[in-house]
Amino acid sequence: MSFKEIDIKEMSFNPFNMIGDEWTLITAGNNEKYNTMTASWGNIGVTWNKNTLVSYIRPQRYTREFVEDNELYTVSIYNEEFKKDLEYLGTVSGRDEEKVSKTSLTPFFTNDTVAFNEANTIFICRKLYCGKITPEGFIDKNIIEESYPDKDFHYVYIGEIVKVLVKE
Ligand SMILES: Cc1cc2nc3c(=O)[nH]c(=O)nc-3n(C[C@H](O)[C@H](O)[C@H](O)COP(=O)(O)O)c2cc1C
Repeated sequence: MSFKEIDIKEMSFNPFNMIGDEWTLITAGNNEKYNTMTASWGNIGVTWNKNTLVSYIRPQRYTREFVEDNELYTVSIYNEEFKKDLEYLGTVSGRDEEKVSKTSLTPFFTNDTVAFNEANTIFICRKLYCGKITPEGFIDKNIIEESYPDKDFHYVYIGEIVKVLVKE
């Protein structure tokens, strides 16, 4: 189960399928302690002349503490066979249990960060920017009620994609 690095410009994918339908895992930490969570919101593109991936993480997520504490984190993509695992990792918090051990995923430590051997694609990201969504910023105020009944506005992380690894 090895990975090879590829040039991001060689990739062809549909971000709406890849992020919104297939989902992703956001993972951060090191071989002593790490955490991961499922994310189906995100954007991929170009910001500040860099290739970037934008992630939206609610304040209460345990994974956010690991993203905060580390310069690098990963956003990784999985084939359909791992959907149940992603569902589990998106339902249970690493604060409450060793959730990864309940799945078929095995950690893959690389470049001072962590993803999983079962990924088909791993984006290694370097934090560039973190900001919190504020209610004042919404032009369409309906979104506040629809997405934030508990007022737990996301932290937005803009990460530079420093490496893309794909399964060999
Ligand atoms: C399909 C799916 C997509 C999700 N997308 C996000 C997301 O984009 N941002 C977020 O903060 N939480 C999202 N979640 C919720 C977290 O994955 C979930 O709360 C998880 O248990 C957090 O784990 P943690 O506390 O160990 O970090 C999603 C959950 C699922 C099932």
